Amino acid sequence: MACWPTSAIGIFPTRAQASALNRASQIQRRVQLAPYNSFGVPAVAAYFANIGSLDELRRALEFARDKRLSVQILGGGSNVLFVKDYEGLICHMNIRGISHLPGPGVVRASCGENWHGFVSYCMNKSLHGYENLALIPGSIGAAPIQNIGAYGVDLAQFLVELEVLDSERDTVRSFSRAECEFGYRDSIFKRRAGHRYVVLSASFELSARNLPNLDYQALKEALPNPGVTPRQIYDTVCRIRRSRLPDPAELGNAGSFFKNPVVSRDKYQALQSEHGEMPSYATEEEGLVKIPAAWLLDRAGWKGRRRGPAAVHEKHALVLVNSGGANGEDILLLAQEMSSSIQSQFGIGLVPEVQLI
Ligand code: EPU
Repeated sequence: MACWPTSAIGIFPTRAQASALNRASQIQRRVQLAPYNSFGVPAVAAYFANIGSLDELRRALEFARDKRLSVQILGGGSNVLFVKDYEGLICHMNIRGISHLPGPGVVRASCGENWHGFVSYCMNKSLHGYENLALIPGSIGAAPIQNIGAYGVDLAQFLVELEVLDSERDTVRSFSRAECEFGYRDSIFKRRAGHRYVVLSASFELSARNLPNLDYQALKEALPNPGVTPRQIYDTVCRIRRSRLPDPAELGNAGSFFKNPVVSRDKYQALQSEHGEMPSYATEEEGLVKIPAAWLLDRAGWKGRRRGPAAVHEKHALVLVNSGGANGEDILLLAQEMSSSIQSQFGIGLVPEVQLI
């Protein structure tokens, strides 16, 4: 415990000392991060703060500024890989709350809310649009950073605005959907210009009407159209995800490890003539197509392969798992081997979707 010099009027700390004590009290030293990342890999944070309010966030950032520490914001820890100990301050965002705003279907959720919990909440309130994003692990605060998406829907579609703390100016501001510069698993917050902002809450405009999106083959095959209900979509997405993707509570993983690569149509056609039929998805840009990294990795024989305690999931070649006792470096080395094999076999560079810390 800190020992404060006694002031002239007694043993109470001065106001400055009290504020420093207050700041420091919420900060823990040398915290094990294994429970805070869905890979379950061990790494130690030099400093760690559990953030339950905007005030607590401000105090933690002030503490980091005073000590010249780097800061890493952490949500559900389901899209990160700790490859070594973290020397700075980890802010674990735990601000909670869901509220309804004026306007039909407008809902705001705080950054510490669980994404799937929010999707289920909306489903039960008959607010529709995000059924396809059921069971995606992670938090509301992390979801906009990589614009989470699945089964033909992404977060950007129904997002109205974000409320963020500008950590350089210490002011709260909002970001409209356009200002977030969303793309495929991308937003301004992944780029340098966006690093100073911490997401506090997100507002969405959902629909009282059913908005089925059955573009995705597996959903089209499993569901009646027309006549499908939001509950059926939600249940089907949960069932497909449970059957194909490992539950991080049982087997450490972070979902897709790599992004699906985008190549020119010419390159895609050349690859097809060399390797035979290859699936592809259209992109928003003319002349470019997205190839499923899972298909490339599967073709290259990666499904189910291991490198010590790090392994490729048996049912999905894009999902790396901690099969017990792996550390971040084990998983990173396996990912690097996978990526160089795809480079040499197909001439395509794979980019991690997971953030390496
Ligand atoms: N495939 C294989 N082998 C495999 C797995 C898949 O050949 O081991 C083939 C499939 O047959 C299919 C294609 O690869 O033709 C795509 O597979 P899948 O439908 O599983 O989708 P994905 O492109 O691998 C993306 C997202 C997932 C999301 C699904 C469903 C990325 C990087 N991943 O996966 O998101 O759930 O679509 O929409 O965009 C995540 O981001 O963590 C994630 C799980």
